[in-house]
Amino acid sequence: MISWRTSFLVIPTICIFAISGRNTTKNTISLQSVLDQINGSYQIRAHNVTMFIPDLVISRSGIEISDASVKADAMEVIQDSNSSQFMPAYTIVSNETRTGKYLLHDYPELTSSINPKLDPCENFYNFVCKGWEQHHEIKEDETSVNQFTVINDKIENQIGSILKNRTKYDTNRLTTLLYDMYESCMNNVSRDEAGSGIILDILSKIKQSKNLTLLTDWLIEVYPVSLFYTISVVPDIRDPKRNMISLQPTSLYLGSEKYYIEQRFEHSMEALKVYLRKVLKFFIEDDVGKKFFANSTAEIERRIESFVKVETAVAEIQNNTDKHYDNVYAGDKIVTVHELQNNISKTINWSRYFAHIFPEEVLAAVGDLSKMEVHVSIIEAIEKLEALSRNLPGQVFADFLQWRIILNYVGFLDDRFIDARFVRLISDPES
Ligand SMILES: *[C@@H]1O[C@H](CO)[C@@H](O)[C@H](O)[C@H]1NC(C)=O
Ligand SMILES: *[C@@H]1O[C@H](CO)[C@@H](O)[C@H](O)[C@H]1NC(C)=O
Ligand SMILES: *[C@@H]1O[C@H](CO)[C@@H](O)[C@H](O)[C@H]1NC(C)=O
Ligand SMILES: *[C@@H]1O[C@H](CO)[C@@H](O)[C@H](O)[C@H]1NC(C)=O
Ligand SMILES: *[C@@H]1O[C@H](CO)[C@@H](O)[C@H](O)[C@H]1NC(C)=O
Ligand SMILES: *[C@@H]1O[C@H](CO)[C@@H](O)[C@H](O)[C@H]1NC(C)=O
Ligand SMILES: *[C@@H]1O[C@H](CO)[C@@H](O)[C@H](O)[C@H]1NC(C)=O
Ligand SMILES: *[C@@H]1O[C@H](CO)[C@@H](O)[C@H](O)[C@H]1NC(C)=O
Ligand SMILES: *[C@@H]1O[C@H](CO)[C@@H](O)[C@H](O)[C@H]1NC(C)=O
Ligand SMILES: *[C@@H]1O[C@H](CO)[C@@H](O)[C@H](O)[C@H]1NC(C)=O
Ligand SMILES: *[C@@H]1O[C@H](CO)[C@@H](O)[C@H](O)[C@H]1NC(C)=O
Ligand SMILES: *[C@@H]1O[C@H](CO)[C@@H](O)[C@H](O)[C@H]1NC(C)=O
Repeated sequence: MISWRTSFLVIPTICIFAISGRNTTKNTISLQSVLDQINGSYQIRAHNVTMFIPDLVISRSGIEISDASVKADAMEVIQDSNSSQFMPAYTIVSNETRTGKYLLHDYPELTSSINPKLDPCENFYNFVCKGWEQHHEIKEDETSVNQFTVINDKIENQIGSILKNRTKYDTNRLTTLLYDMYESCMNNVSRDEAGSGIILDILSKIKQSKNLTLLTDWLIEVYPVSLFYTISVVPDIRDPKRNMISLQPTSLYLGSEKYYIEQRFEHSMEALKVYLRKVLKFFIEDDVGKKFFANSTAEIERRIESFVKVETAVAEIQNNTDKHYDNVYAGDKIVTVHELQNNISKTINWSRYFAHIFPEEVLAAVGDLSKMEVHVSIIEAIEKLEALSRNLPGQVFADFLQWRIILNYVGFLDDRFIDARFVRLISDPES
């Protein structure tokens, strides 16, 4: 399964061979006449190439580019020196522009991707991609393969090979930190020993802070866990040399809102509940004094219902917010923290929150926080999320806050949690 966009990516990297030059001037040599003399394999190397392709036609006989022009400081035709028919390297001085009709061929990845037995006018997609599909198996634990996953796998293997080669690459303080971190992540013995301790510690710290009656204090305490908003640093679109704070609605646990609101994904919601039950079971085992997690079916189900209820409410907000596909910035606004506080989001004390989470030097540079500008993404959704957090019943809200902490860290815990892994969904609702 590859999408249109990925299959099209192959085209810009095609090599082109000049077949005849309509407008070639007297002093230049047609590339075709050079190629006619060459036997065996050859390479053409061009330096500093600029290529303009105003028109491209794909037909049974090949891919045709009309009136394309190629400009290069130099082109070399190099015959494979092992070939019996040797021809010395040939340089075409071509600082000028060539125009004419060009044919594309001899591009192995494209040749193997195209299935010339098919009629492109009947099914262009299969004509271009059938071969690619045959050469790229979908892995057993994946649901799709495309140019991006192929490149991604390649890069992951390269990173893996670097991370497993400490002796070869560990040369300075930064690489030492990097390798230390990688090795501690890979140390399953210490992870097993820690169990879910890290989360129980956070929950315990929160329980002991008697001053956490306000949402802002809770957010400060659990930072970088967030609730309905994600805070990031983005370039200021009015002056990209400057950075600014951006506030946007957080994404749903399952990614797409469709999982929560469409009947056809009911099985996915059931799979999610099974996973959450397993996670709670491990917490119940680890919470020896039963300080946070009672071994009670009623409590387990209540916690899960709370999570699903809030996530579904957020999904409905996403579903019912105008998506502005034509202009992704249409729903955005740049406001001061003062305006954010008074006009958009009242449930959090933003000045106090920022004052606690920003580094000292940022606070010093910003000065008066209430005057700092913030880029707010999808105002409409943020206003609806505000209303949601004001109207949620206390217990539901409290359960949801705990889930935010648990799910934020659960991916880093011991193998029980990894084995219980929620297998992401087989069907992508966007496709
Ligand atoms: C190429 O030749 C055609 C007619 O022979 C002419 O109209 C056109 O201007 C020429 N193009 C260039 C870039 O010289
Ligand atoms: C390529 O050509 C441009 C202008 O024609 C020139 O400025 C540039 O330095 C050249 N680059 C190389 C790598 O030769
Ligand atoms: C192409 O032109 C540039 C400047 O116009 C010149 O420096 C360069 O040497 C030329 N290249 C060739 C291969 O003639
Ligand atoms: C040319 O021959 C040498 C030795 O026989 C071999 O190592 C090399 O790979 C050959 N080159 C090509 C392009 O086939
Ligand atoms: C290519 O091969 C043909 C016949 O096979 C021969 O006549 C011709 O001279 C060869 N060309 C070169 C450049 O070796
Ligand atoms: C270490 O690097 C070498 C060369 O870069 C590579 O061949 C080897 O596979 C790497 N080792 C591991 C364990 O990835
Ligand atoms: C821990 O990791 C090692 C090496 O990666 C592996 O051989 C071993 O099976 C793992 N132990 C457990 C309990 O998963
Ligand atoms: C809450 O109280 C604890 C000490 O009990 C303190 O360390 C923490 O900074 C306080 N949090 C806030 C947000 O005031
Ligand atoms: C929780 O209760 C069930 C039965 O009600 C029991 O089988 C299980 O061992 C208990 N788990 C823990 C960690 O106490
Ligand atoms: C989702 O949005 C569609 C149209 O945008 C609407 O018809 C549907 O009722 C919405 N579903 C929910 C559960 O809000
Ligand atoms: C905030 O609200 C005030 C008063 O309702 C209004 O004058 C102001 O324009 C609003 N600011 C923004 C950025 O919406
Ligand atoms: C936010 O907290 C500060 C104290 O840190 C307080 O002075 C300010 O009035 C609060 N703002 C709101 C809107 O509650």
